[in-house]
Parts: sequence; C-alpha cells; structure tokens
Amino acid sequence: MTTSIVDIQAGSKNYPVMIGSSLLGALGDAIARMQPSPPTRVLLVADDSLPASTVDTARASLASACNEVFIASCHATEENKSIAAFEKLHAAAASQGIDRGDCLVALGGGITGDLVGFVAATHRRGVRVIQCPTTLLAMVDASVGGKTGINLVAQSMLLKNFVGNFHQPECVLASIDTLDSLDDRQFRSGLGECIKHAMISGSTDPQLGDWTRINLAAILNRNTRALAELIERNVRVKAAVVATDERETAKTGGRALLNLGHTFAHAIETIPTLSPDDESSNAPLLHGEAVALGLVAAVSTARSLDLVDNALFDQTLRTIQESGLPTQISGLPSNESIVDRMAHDKKALGGSMRFVLPVGPGSAKTVLTPPLNAVKKGLDAIRSEI
Ligand code: GLY
Repeated sequence: MTTSIVDIQAGSKNYPVMIGSSLLGALGDAIARMQPSPPTRVLLVADDSLPASTVDTARASLASACNEVFIASCHATEENKSIAAFEKLHAAAASQGIDRGDCLVALGGGITGDLVGFVAATHRRGVRVIQCPTTLLAMVDASVGGKTGINLVAQSMLLKNFVGNFHQPECVLASIDTLDSLDDRQFRSGLGECIKHAMISGSTDPQLGDWTRINLAAILNRNTRALAELIERNVRVKAAVVATDERETAKTGGRALLNLGHTFAHAIETIPTLSPDDESSNAPLLHGEAVALGLVAAVSTARSLDLVDNALFDQTLRTIQESGLPTQISGLPSNESIVDRMAHDKKALGGSMRFVLPVGPGSAKTVLTPPLNAVKKGLDAIRSEI
C-alpha cells in the first residue's frame, strides 16, 4: 500500500505524519533526513508489551543510520506514567550520553508517547523525538500535536497528564501493521477518539461521522485500507485544530475542542475498580473506554441544555455501542464525588470547570461551568446500577 502523509503545521514546527505499512523499516531514513543534522545517538524507548520482532525492526532500521542505538523499555500503565518512570528514563538517557543533538524514539501507545515525549521535552532542556505509535488511539490522537506529560498523585488522586509540556516531534510514523499485536479491547479503545473527532470534524471533514458508521464493520475487521483512511482522516481533523491553536490558548473553541468527553473521562478513568463490563478482572477502564463514556455524558449534558436533539444523542450512543465500547458503567461514585474530581481536572480554569459540549452533528463548543444539574444528568446517563 502507498504511504500517505499529513503535514502538521504547528506554530513551533512543521512535520509529517506518515501512515502506511511496514514503516518502522523507514525509521533509519527519517533519522538520516533530520535537520540541521542527524543525531549520532538514539535512545529507543519501547513499550514492554510489544512483540520482540517489532522492537527489533525499529532497532535495525535506526542502526542503519546511526552508530549508537540504545534501548530502554516502558511499562505502559497509568500508574507508571509517573515521576518515577520519568526520572528513570532521564537517567537512562544521561547514562548513554544523549545530548541536545541526539534523539529519542517513542515506540508504543499513548502512555509511552506522552512519557517519552515529556522526557525529550525536558532532557537537557530539550532533545528531538520521533513518535512511532503502535495503537489506534496513539495513531489518531496522542502521537500528533505535541502534547506530552505524566500523571501526578496529589490529595490521594491520580491527576491525569497534570505535569507536562508541548514538544512537537520531528515526525510521526504510524505503521499500521503494528496494530496486529493489539487485542480487540485495546483496538476498539482507539475508536473512542475517532468518534470524538467525528463529533468536532464539521468544517474539515463533515462526512467523517457518516463514513465511520458506514465503514465500521471493515474497521472492526481491521481491513488495512479502511484503517489507513480512518487514520488519515482523523489525523487531518486533528491537524486542522492544532494548526489554529497549538498550545490550547484560545479563549473559546480551539484545541480545547479535542477534549470533548475528556472532563468526564479523566474523572472516571483513574478509579481503579471501574471495568467496562462489570468483570473486575477487566478493571481499570482503558482511556478510549473512558472517552466513550465521557462522550455519552457530554451529549446527554448537551441534550439537557437543549444544545442537541434526541436524534443526535441516539446516534452517538448507537455508534459507540456498535464500536464495542461501553455507554454505561456500574460502580460509579456519587455525582458529587465525580464533580469534585472534575474540579481537579487540569482543564479547570480559575476554579471554573471547562466542558466541551456537542451542539450539532460534527460541531461542539466550550462551555465554562454549565449548570450542575445538567452535568449530573450527563453522569446519570452513564450510570448503570446492578
Ligand atoms: N488529545 C487532545 C489534544 O491533543 O489536544
């Protein structure tokens, strides 16, 4: 298959997202092309659950362009997206002599990419990084746009992505074959972010929602052509948003729109007992599962404020269900306690909670502190009591 390229024009840097098959073998070329000069040392940080052959392909390709290639591994859990893991990777980079002319390569899902990106952003005040996402979620969202970070534990809560920075990569290589190693649950989790993109894609790709629904069976069967188009169209939606508001500073709209569903999602995904199907062995929620629930809560909040009609609510629910993602969950704490967690979200501004709510097909807006009753209705919509 041909490789497609989406150019990201972030204010601070322009770079390509390459989408295709067997792209890890092109890592060496990407290194050799780096400006103003290629690195002499590379630290490849790989998710420790990846098949050895995937890591080996990446390592061999890097070694074709670079004398010294070092490997470190990352155990990709939310608990391990931590200051301790961040410090350990800094120490690995320092002990291999990675300097400001060198480069880190992140090989894994969103947790690995965020963590390694943040180490790159801060090591000796910044070294270059290449993102090689290996999950659908990371290909369509986390690897693109330069957000990096780790979680913070404070007041006995795990605060998602609370410590971080913007650090755009040199390039992103989304090699679709790496998705083969994902189990179905991990794979479907990525669809949560795709459904989110379709809900804000209006001016860039108004057909994305319909296209996703029509092609859902092919996507769930992991048809390579359908996946390539899904990833490319989602990256284009994200690219358009990032181009207008790289650092999420717009007063309304802007990059914050990419947080649709996330104020709800972040408040529930760090609760360790929640599972998507009441099986305790499946706890905790994956990020995309929490996003799916967050989208249901957001569209329900919007409906109770008359921002959207029942038809859009029903369509959103159906798309999430048909994607194999949860729309309700049991074991949620009280609404008051979830609202308290949301008030600690890093997106809160001056004590006000900032939500993104849908206002029509493909369209959403930022809303500062909506009426509490509407937020509680959103939470009630995802609450299943058994
Ligand atoms: N994942 C949201 C953003 O990149 O802004």
